[in-house]
Amino acid sequence: MKKNILITGGAGFIGSHVVRRFVNKYPDYQIINLDALTYAGNLANLADLESCQNYEFHKVDITNATEVEKIFQSKKIDSVIHLAAESHVDRSISNPLEFVMTNVVGTVILLNAFKAFGNIESGRFYHVSTDEVYGTLGDEGKFTETTPYSPNSPYSASKASSDHFVRAYGETYHLPFVISNCSNNYGSHQFPEKLIPLMIHNIKNNKPLPVYGKGENVRDWLWVNDHAAAIDVVFHHGKLSETYNIGGNNEWKNIDLVKKLCEIMDRKLGRTKGDSEKLITYVTDRAGHDFRYAIDASKLETELGWTPSVNFDQGFERTIDWYLENEEWLTNVTSGNYQLYYQKMYENRETL
Ligand code: NAD
Ligand code: DAU
Repeated sequence: MKKNILITGGAGFIGSHVVRRFVNKYPDYQIINLDALTYAGNLANLADLESCQNYEFHKVDITNATEVEKIFQSKKIDSVIHLAAESHVDRSISNPLEFVMTNVVGTVILLNAFKAFGNIESGRFYHVSTDEVYGTLGDEGKFTETTPYSPNSPYSASKASSDHFVRAYGETYHLPFVISNCSNNYGSHQFPEKLIPLMIHNIKNNKPLPVYGKGENVRDWLWVNDHAAAIDVVFHHGKLSETYNIGGNNEWKNIDLVKKLCEIMDRKLGRTKGDSEKLITYVTDRAGHDFRYAIDASKLETELGWTPSVNFDQGFERTIDWYLENEEWLTNVTSGNYQLYYQKMYENRETL
């Protein structure tokens, strides 16, 4: 019999890659994509799957318990891969409550529905989470699965809280679960509020490139398709009640990453070397800006045999090419409300 797998947030950046992978790779699964289509959700990300028999989409807000329960009851859900979330740190600083509602309350509503109507005998609830729950690192060291939680932003506090609820449901109600905590993703279909697509969009349009503070903060970047592959492995082979860290072993200072991007964009756009770099503008730092993230993914690598499939140069080139080749996608998502968001987020940032 077909297994019904509910994927939440499947119209977003990472979710769309996970949905595509599962629909194409597992014809014996019915993939049920449940997404509220917020500003970050976009069905154009999944247009190629519309005619697939083992795929269906439902526009549902996970904070709506009645609607969520209806789906669980009518579809007999075996397992959940939960990605739906408010995901942008800067937005969480402006509006923390929205993050509590979706990321905490929404997760608890899904847990309740899975407990009441899901296949808790042989299915599992997989919470896709972030390395930001561990807080920030200094110059040395990496986050492991035993690093204490110490979230610094409203976003990471909401994700830490939802991780705790998932674990608590495991202990209290014996709900089968698994959690993964991943570092920064890059790749196609990422909403251009995040560093890389925002910079690509601005370079193309000759707009200033707003680097927060001195640009010294460090992130560990992973190609989104490799995150989707890791999710596949953890979903199928991860031990219940365990956490797995996922990362690219690929640390970059923001300013070095932006300079590398400028160099590649100059080449691809036929500009003189150094032209795009002139757009770099240092602006007021993000409040509570975590200094450095770095993931130790050795548990996932040794226990489940996952490693990234591409190196950064390959993944980064492919990513840049995708945004240049999909001008219409970028134009669509940056029209309308994006302009208002951009104005609000960046107009009061002083140039340093
Ligand atoms: P995203 O913002 O691109 O997509 C989020 C998706 O969730 C969108 O499709 C949106 O419509 C949907 N959504 C939001 N609120 C909803 C609600 N109330 N009900 C139903 N759907 C709702 O996010 P992303 O970057 O793809 O991240 C996906 C998940 O992975 C999140 O849980 C995030 O915390 C986690 N994560 C992201 C990264 C990263 O680098 N982007 C890294 C590690 C973990
Ligand atoms: O580590 C995983 C997390 O990575 C995910 O859980 C989050 O959902 C995801 O948004 C991402 O969080 P970051 O805050 O690290 O990503 P962002 O792309 O917003 O910023 C990356 C770095 O670039 C960060 O140090 C802030 C900086 N930055 C960002 C923007 C948008 C700038 O300097 N200028 C900018 O305009």
